[in-house]
Amino acid sequence: MQNLMKTTPSLILASVLFIALFFVGTVSAHKNHMIGAKEHPAIKARHKLMADSVFAAKQAGGMVKGATPYDAGKAELAMRLISAAAFNMDKYFPKASIPKKGSKSEASPKIWKNMADFLSEIEKFKTSSNAAIKLAGQGEDAFKGGFMGVMKSCKSCHENYRIKKQ
Ligand code: HEC
Repeated sequence: MQNLMKTTPSLILASVLFIALFFVGTVSAHKNHMIGAKEHPAIKARHKLMADSVFAAKQAGGMVKGATPYDAGKAELAMRLISAAAFNMDKYFPKASIPKKGSKSEASPKIWKNMADFLSEIEKFKTSSNAAIKLAGQGEDAFKGGFMGVMKSCKSCHENYRIKKQ
């Protein structure tokens, strides 16, 4: 009993310390997040477009690979989401959003040096995603071709204009 009385305060101290350390941890994590928040808003906006595209590509990819049954409506919807991203993309690369030192952005500075070529990559992306919308209603094989075309547009632009950070 006496032993327990002795250990209890140190247990309390230990938990207080633990909680304090936990807060230090979250505060510094929050600080990192704040650095992210200082990024140009266009960087966040374009990441959102890319995330939408990845989501849609995963849905479509599952059907193309046969992991999920082909559903023309779902395939079309996925391509519409990607197409919406393609049609909005040019708005999110203003000069002010050229990544500064320490930025988490993966956008290559080449984008702003070769803007005309970058815009032509966006045009290809619009065309391929629009074609895939229509092909979705023409059966799984037709859609496969359309979807591959879209994936090619992602790859073609990334090869030149995205610097993958690890
Ligand atoms: C016209 C060029 C272009 C096309 C087309 C394109 N991307 Fe990107 N993508 C970029 C650029 C540039 C970045 C880096 C943006 C940044 O970090 O500021 C990027 C970043 C990304 C990222 C990382 C986003 C993040 O949060 O760090 C993903 C994932 C991605 N793209 C997926 C896709 C997929 C999937 C497609 C096709 C369906 C696609 N992209 C089409 C240019 C493109």
